[in-house]
Amino acid sequence: MASNSDWPIFPRGFLLGAATAAYQIEGGAREGGRGESIWDRFSHTPGKTYEGHTGDVACDHYHRWREDIKLMAQLGLQAYRFSIAWSRVMPEGRGAVNPAGLDFYDQLVDALLNEGIQPFITLYHWDLPQSLQEKGGWPNRDLVGYFADYAAVVVRHLGDRVRHWITFNEPWVFAFTGYLTGEHAPGLTDLPAAVQAAHHALVAHGVAADAIRAYGDAGARVGIVLNLSRVDPATDSQADIEAAHRFDGYLNRWFLDPLFHGRYPEDVFPLLGGQDLQSEPNDLAGLAERVDFLGINNYFRNVVGYEKDSPPLDVRFHKPEGAQYTDMGWEVYPEGLYKLLVRVHRDYEPASIYITENGAAFPDVLQADGGVDDRDRIEFLQAYTFAAHRALEEGVPLKGYFVWSLLDNFEWAHGYSKRFGIVYVDYATQERIVKRSGHWYREMIGGQ
Ligand code: FCB
Repeated sequence: MASNSDWPIFPRGFLLGAATAAYQIEGGAREGGRGESIWDRFSHTPGKTYEGHTGDVACDHYHRWREDIKLMAQLGLQAYRFSIAWSRVMPEGRGAVNPAGLDFYDQLVDALLNEGIQPFITLYHWDLPQSLQEKGGWPNRDLVGYFADYAAVVVRHLGDRVRHWITFNEPWVFAFTGYLTGEHAPGLTDLPAAVQAAHHALVAHGVAADAIRAYGDAGARVGIVLNLSRVDPATDSQADIEAAHRFDGYLNRWFLDPLFHGRYPEDVFPLLGGQDLQSEPNDLAGLAERVDFLGINNYFRNVVGYEKDSPPLDVRFHKPEGAQYTDMGWEVYPEGLYKLLVRVHRDYEPASIYITENGAAFPDVLQADGGVDDRDRIEFLQAYTFAAHRALEEGVPLKGYFVWSLLDNFEWAHGYSKRFGIVYVDYATQERIVKRSGHWYREMIGGQ
């Protein structure tokens, strides 16, 4: 495996792509029979998102998808990870299927395949149908069955052409920021509900995986995407080391242990009130066999120290001085991705790993000459792809890399104020402008 200094050279068959999510790009929120989702409700609730931004129009991808696929082809993308809006396919989340919703994704998949771009579909990227929230949302165990039914509908329809299926995107984020900190939809602040929601996502992964295998193509591959991050202690004091370990248990092991070892991490289980979890005896049995690939979303590392009287974990975040931070305030730390990959491989041995998201928000400026000169993003992507490559050379079964994101888009509670795209979106005109990083990525893919 050779490398030049501008980008790493990956093995043949390694996929280089880009990722998006339905609510962040589609718009068309009330079109084609789409039902309301929790993100529609949340973003329309005053005070929940930056300047009240919503995904009503977003990047208008619902209407501009043909143009967007042309753009992907121009960039040379080998794979495209996108999500399906559950409420487009099943407006109420269960029961009636909306043919227009299925048609939209049908056409999208065909157009991608026509361009030789492999679709990676995420079934759930946070936009729960609002009517299921009214039944209690993820803390209600009935959602496990509803999700499996929805997965079956989609896979029956697209499974002849799509091989890579992701059940959930970042269950940690939607369970804990949706139900504990309230920063994301549905905006609740209830620890037992959050822990229950996370548990149901794991159980739902298992049953949806069974549906994907039952109705998908013989070559179908099932994955789940976790937001994982390296956790370092703020100092080498015993208290900080233990605090970092607790945070690692909450962020990383809370999902990795059940998925690959069939149990919750014992050290943090009581801290999160695990004894009150409602579960059934075989809930966590056999999940590892239902993960053909693990998707890892990684952006930064966490530096964590002990903080007295700061329940439930008694931790505090530190921001190392002298480090570079993105527009999200996230530390640029490519070494963290390398260490994370090596550790996940060593401790959990997933058969295959994809980096399903990695990228950075920077305050991009559209210049008078019509370009966007985002060298900071190029440096970020260079450093992180080299870190990934290093892990691969050391035996980590890494099969692909998806940059977040193809387009600037609706960054959840931050609205349109954070730009992650390798393509700039002028929201006033919906014009797409390939940033310098997009040109760099095209050259990198072409240079493999
Ligand atoms: C991840 C999300 C993705 C995007 C990036 C920046 O947590 O999966 O939708 O918002 O962060």
